[in-house]
Amino acid sequence: MPTAIPLHVNGQATRVTVDDPDMPLLYALRDNLGLHGPRFGCGVGQCGSCTVHLDGRPVRSCVMPLSAVGKKKIVTLEGLGTTDKLHPVQKAFIEEQAAQCGYCINGMIMEAAALLASNKKPSDVQIKQALTHNLCRCGTHLRIVRAVKRASAGV
Ligand code: FES
Ligand code: FES
Repeated sequence: MPTAIPLHVNGQATRVTVDDPDMPLLYALRDNLGLHGPRFGCGVGQCGSCTVHLDGRPVRSCVMPLSAVGKKKIVTLEGLGTTDKLHPVQKAFIEEQAAQCGYCINGMIMEAAALLASNKKPSDVQIKQALTHNLCRCGTHLRIVRAVKRASAGV
């Protein structure tokens, strides 16, 4: 039976009506709300391309049941910055050209933004540790670390 589930996404209260409340949050964001910032990569919590923030913490939305979100505030890439006012991490990724195909980048940015919210001046080691479970098949890791360092100067 269809169930309406209230959510708080990118600063706005909304709701989604779904057949299965235990479906992944990722599907509700992409398919019900049309938010394509979080991407489907592995679908099993291993690659990080689906990363969103829940109350400021980075989570893998592909393995987060919709029913477990509750009142937590969700932020997707769409809610991080705007075209007119980019988040410092978004700006730094552009300035460092830290993408090739770009598939991993949305998740990388969300993970990096969460890191910088809790640690404004991370070391290279701390950046690498924070991003170690965000996979990039194109091998842009060096540029990504540079971008996070650059963003840390402006966060
Ligand atoms: S799609 Fe969620 S971790 Fe890979
Ligand atoms: S830029 Fe292609 S997967 Fe990371």
